[in-house]
Amino acid sequence: MNFQFTEEQKMIQQAARDYAQRELIHDVIERDEKAIYPTEHIRNLSELGFLGMMVDPKYDGGGMDTVSYVLAMEEFSKVDSSIGVIVSVNNSLVCYGLEKYGTEDQKEKYLKPLARGEVTGAFLLSEPGAGSDATSQQTKAVDMGDHYLLNGVKNWITNGNTASTYLVIAQTHPDLGHRGINALIVDRHAEGVSIGPHENKMGMRSSDTHSVQFTDVKVPKENRIGEDGFGFKFAMKTLEGGRIGIASQALGLAAGAYELSCKYAKERKTFGKEIIKHQAIAFKLSDMATEIEAGRFLCLKAAWLKDQGLPYGIASAMAKQYCADMAMRVTTEAVQVHGGYGYVKEYHVERLMRDAKLTQIYEGTSEIQKIVISRAIQTGDI
Ligand code: CAA
Repeated sequence: MNFQFTEEQKMIQQAARDYAQRELIHDVIERDEKAIYPTEHIRNLSELGFLGMMVDPKYDGGGMDTVSYVLAMEEFSKVDSSIGVIVSVNNSLVCYGLEKYGTEDQKEKYLKPLARGEVTGAFLLSEPGAGSDATSQQTKAVDMGDHYLLNGVKNWITNGNTASTYLVIAQTHPDLGHRGINALIVDRHAEGVSIGPHENKMGMRSSDTHSVQFTDVKVPKENRIGEDGFGFKFAMKTLEGGRIGIASQALGLAAGAYELSCKYAKERKTFGKEIIKHQAIAFKLSDMATEIEAGRFLCLKAAWLKDQGLPYGIASAMAKQYCADMAMRVTTEAVQVHGGYGYVKEYHVERLMRDAKLTQIYEGTSEIQKIVISRAIQTGDI
């Protein structure tokens, strides 16, 4: 087992760290408070190649591996996890889904601009009545011969308003259940697409989250991904990689809260000494450091398996569940270490705690990850 990163992986990690610590830090509190989408930062990160970083260079991507992606996601999310989710959805749901399962024409038309970072994408699976229970899709894609007629509503869509390319999961043959579901590439500007108001969220406030409604939207047949009825499997396979992204995001925001806590604990004095010298605080930091390291290994293991072309669905579910729950614990303790200062905005940790909550919910709740893991135990796959 090799625990060392390559020179290229270290370079990517450093580039992400530099951008996060030098640029993202300045306006992160204001963007959170006013729920401002980070347009300028996303443009800069596109130019640096982070929006399509794992896409093959022949489709205009960065050709980097998943381990590098985990390292970059951790660095961005230490400072700004809203940036983390925008980068994650674009890379590991939209670009990956198109690259792995799209036709050459679809890659030419849709993947290349996404990989170049000229546009962003969104993944539209969740509905008002189908979040965890993802097979219960009510959005309909009726087969009209040369096109599908799309009707329905999708909820809590990351990049919902800013994305140009949607990957939409919809039911075509209700009698076939999940085997009748399709995945369609939909242009956000197509006639009949309307965007709901920006969701006023607890955390991840500068990421762009909306509901999206489809009313008689015509989607050309050539925009279907894979064979008729492949849509649910497409969503599940794509989410396996998406969950590595969200796990790394959770890891990053925990690591960010831990670093701030260490710094604070070395400066702040009570009862005549720095609080890091009080065992009550030192033990908290010790637990945080160990849990973060465990989460990092789970993320890197899932990424490594994916890079080797080995099955990684269970590893990514474990990474996602552990890191999300760990991030909630670590950020809560970070607020406690900071005491009263932790409860006010300029110390950052209260924001990281609010952001951590969402990692336990989206791209499959912690409970959904436990379903995935426990089923693998039952079948003897682990
Ligand atoms: N790979 C390939 N196929 C898979 C699969 C996988 N990982 N997981 C399930 N399937 C297949 C099954 O084999 C089955 O197909 P067959 O019947 O043909 O064999 C089919 O999918 C249905 O599987 P299940 O019977 O296991 O379905 P289920 O109803 O019990 O649900 C579930 C399974 C794992 C709970 C799934 O519904 C799930 O993952 N739910 C959570 C959905 C989710 O993550 N939503 C997040 C929204 S996206 C988001 O948040 C993006 C964002 O903007 C941040």
